[in-house]
Amino acid sequence: MSSPKRRLLITSALPYANGQIHIGHLVEYVQTDIWVRFQRMRGHEVHYVGADDTHGTPIMLRAEKEGLTPKELIANVWKEHKRDFDDFLISFDNYYTTDSPENETLSQSIYLKLRDAGLIEMRAIEQAYDPVKEMFLPDRFIKGECPKCGAKDQYGDSCEKCGATYSPTDLKNPFSVVSGATPIKKVSDHYFFKLSDPRCETFLREWTQVKTPLQPEARNKMKEWVGQPGDSKLGDWDISRDAPYFGFEIPDAPGKYFYVWLDAPIGYYASFLNYCQSKGLNFEEWVRPDTATEQYHFIGKDILYFHTLFWPATLHFAGYRTPTNVFAHGFLTVDGEKMSKSRGTLISAHSVITSGFNPEWFRYYFATKLNDSMEDLDLNLQDFVARVNSDLLGKYINIASRSAGFLVKRFDGVVSDEALNNPLLTEIASASEKIAALYEAREYAKALRTIMELADKVNGFVDENKPWEIAKDPEREADLQRVCSVTLEAFRLLSLYLKPVLPQVTAGVEDFLSIPAMTWNDVKAPLSSKNPIKAYKHLMARVEAPQIEALLAANL
Ligand code: MSP
Ligand code: ZN
Repeated sequence: MSSPKRRLLITSALPYANGQIHIGHLVEYVQTDIWVRFQRMRGHEVHYVGADDTHGTPIMLRAEKEGLTPKELIANVWKEHKRDFDDFLISFDNYYTTDSPENETLSQSIYLKLRDAGLIEMRAIEQAYDPVKEMFLPDRFIKGECPKCGAKDQYGDSCEKCGATYSPTDLKNPFSVVSGATPIKKVSDHYFFKLSDPRCETFLREWTQVKTPLQPEARNKMKEWVGQPGDSKLGDWDISRDAPYFGFEIPDAPGKYFYVWLDAPIGYYASFLNYCQSKGLNFEEWVRPDTATEQYHFIGKDILYFHTLFWPATLHFAGYRTPTNVFAHGFLTVDGEKMSKSRGTLISAHSVITSGFNPEWFRYYFATKLNDSMEDLDLNLQDFVARVNSDLLGKYINIASRSAGFLVKRFDGVVSDEALNNPLLTEIASASEKIAALYEAREYAKALRTIMELADKVNGFVDENKPWEIAKDPEREADLQRVCSVTLEAFRLLSLYLKPVLPQVTAGVEDFLSIPAMTWNDVKAPLSSKNPIKAYKHLMARVEAPQIEALLAANL
């Protein structure tokens, strides 16, 4: 082990419980899962938790539409989400829900600590109200005519037709999406987290600009908000919503609920607390300010503010540790465009599975595109087929089938130990720390490029030595065993490097090589003549046209 044992709590953003998991979401869960599996292989103590994000107006209204209670709806969606994550081999240690007793207790106690610190303020504000449905309307539930071009049926923030941006009060002939009624203005008391308090400003300036090694793009974005002393743009954050609302009640405030974005990140801790209780882990040890443990949040760039302003401030002023870092990724586009239901590019995770795709094809493809930045990444199905069939199958999987057969048939699966003292193997093994550093830095594209370059060299070795020709010459038995042994040990090393990305294929590899589950240290544990390999079994199939056709048909 090159570094001492670290203790890591890792999360992915909590998906909303009002829709299906799609391949855009999967970018994030795959990105996190690769990192999690890599850290586990390094021998660190890793806990990876997630949950469904279950509260808020959209979920309440969708449940009503479907004739379910919100709790029934979120229970159904939880099962679908869990199924999708399992299908894509996302190795959560705990997958929970924000609608949990742990989350209610934590949210309320965190709120009370913020209140005790003098950071909660009540203020009356005027908002759009649906007089028929008798509820306040979030912006996205108000539509009307664009104030600029007059286009009908536009949302309260921007016009899809002319691109103008405005506020919901600017809409002409506004109507409630819920009842069709014309919204009226109504005053009500709201609770605010006083982010404009000088203590918060000072803390967030320090946290985002000095203390936390945020991505440069993220740090610059936050710089605009935290500004210089005296000119911060941080406004107070409205953390309450009026009944009817699906969420947790605010203590001492009848009819007021926590805004979903208050209890959602606390849901990370609630899931972890639930897990700690079932595993006998000491939760407090992980969340107190002086802890030596690390805490990382993987998120999409759209929810950066919540994770680098609101969440650290909430934690800090409630007396908890703050995140070690927040890792934001870009958005997945399909053929260069934003995914869209109407274009058939909003591809659900489940349709990928029912179309006969191997989920590891997607894990591999995303990994070849991911780096440490917030740049968007594109899915192009032609490129997908090429990467999977030519690189993954053609360069990597193929190596095993080129060497294992002879070894099993002619040598009872026994490798030659002396053969493994070989310059090609030394070269591959010596890349291990470079590859580890790339995984650690979330530079998966570079890690895979490095691994595939090594695979090219192994294929070059096979092409030069031509085991299929040696095999015809009875006098070259030893040579054949040597070439196949080197090739197979090279395949083992490549498999070790790919294991965070391809957990299922590499489990198959461990099985046919008759070796225990590989950790990073096993770079130094070569195959041995004492441990013959089993017969090669088929590890992965190619992508074929019918699967692509089925996928396109399923999402049109
Ligand atoms: N519920 C909030 C997160 C709360 S975290 C305390 C939410 N949910 S979401 O379902 O909309 O998104 C979940 C994650 O998926 C987010 O990190 C989001 O950025 C990510 N993605 C959603 N669509 C995506 C793409 N098209 N591409 C990449 N990531 C995407 O936000
Ligand atoms: Zn317009």
